[in-house]
Amino acid sequence: MIHTVEANGAEIPAIGLGTWDLRGDTCETCVSAALDAGYRHIDTAAMYDNEREVGRAIRNSSVPREKIFLTTKVWHDSVGVGPFQRSVEDSLGRFKLDYADLVLVHWPDKGTPVQETMQALMDVKARGLAKHVGVSNFTVSLVEEAVSHSSVPLVVNQVEYHPYLEQSPVLEVCRKHGLALTAYSPLAKGRVFDEPVLREIGENHGKSAGQVTLRWLVQQEQVIAIPRSSKPDHIIAAYDIADFRLGEDEMKCISGLAQSDGRMVDFDFAPDWD
Ligand SMILES: NC(=O)c1ccc[n+]([C@@H]2O[C@H](COP(=O)([O-])OP(=O)(O)OC[C@H]3O[C@@H](n4cnc5c(N)ncnc54)[C@H](OP(=O)(O)O)[C@@H]3O)[C@@H](O)[C@H]2O)c1
Repeated sequence: MIHTVEANGAEIPAIGLGTWDLRGDTCETCVSAALDAGYRHIDTAAMYDNEREVGRAIRNSSVPREKIFLTTKVWHDSVGVGPFQRSVEDSLGRFKLDYADLVLVHWPDKGTPVQETMQALMDVKARGLAKHVGVSNFTVSLVEEAVSHSSVPLVVNQVEYHPYLEQSPVLEVCRKHGLALTAYSPLAKGRVFDEPVLREIGENHGKSAGQVTLRWLVQQEQVIAIPRSSKPDHIIAAYDIADFRLGEDEMKCISGLAQSDGRMVDFDFAPDWD
């Protein structure tokens, strides 16, 4: 059983299934396999074009809805008051569910004041469409700005985080304000499986390089990880990390893999990274 992370009143399972790029039957099969394997946290977004399948897998599962932590996100072209709320309503319509556990601003939008986006976020929570709200791809200064304009607590900042990308400043600002940091692309899109350092540490524990990476993430205070796979065996393996711990020297060794050009997800509309 994977532990949960407490963040400003939310209890969030430390491992969730990422679903970007999972579509149609593959998506539904993967979400069902994850719930069967013990996952209680699923991550999607309006932009992933799979909310119908995610909703169907959740509704057809024997796991009660209230035991599942479901996150969705609003794309950066809809983060103003009005479009934001409509995007969340549309997501719930595709899920055929009454609420999401967490709604995130997928990316900040340079043309929309953060204050306005926070108003929309607060409205979604006040109306019960989301149990909790948060942000994604927010830098240190954007987190500070968001927190200052929100009268409800933000619970998560979801950002890219894996051994090749150092994220101390944004992790510090999350901890300072009680948010969890959810690590996206936690397996560096599969690259970690070829990393000799991670493979060697894994051999000491009878685990794969990917399992070592996920353990390194969730062993850090306030960190959650959402690995993705299109294969049920890989989904089961990513959840099988509760039975070992990394030593301090192993944690430091993995942190030492960070590279200045380690970022893998970037767009022309992205903020100026820390
Ligand atoms: N907020 C944002 O802007 C944002 C951006 C990017 C991602 N995300 C979220 O984060 C989630 C995860 O990130 P990601 O999808 O970029 O990548 P990831 O989880 O870092 O890596 C996924 C890759 O790892 C491979 N993999 C998984 N288990 C494996 C195993 N046991 N052996 C070999 N390969 C394995 C998968 O291939 P197989 O399918 O073959 O297993 C897939 O190619 C996304 O799905 C999405 O939910 C959010």
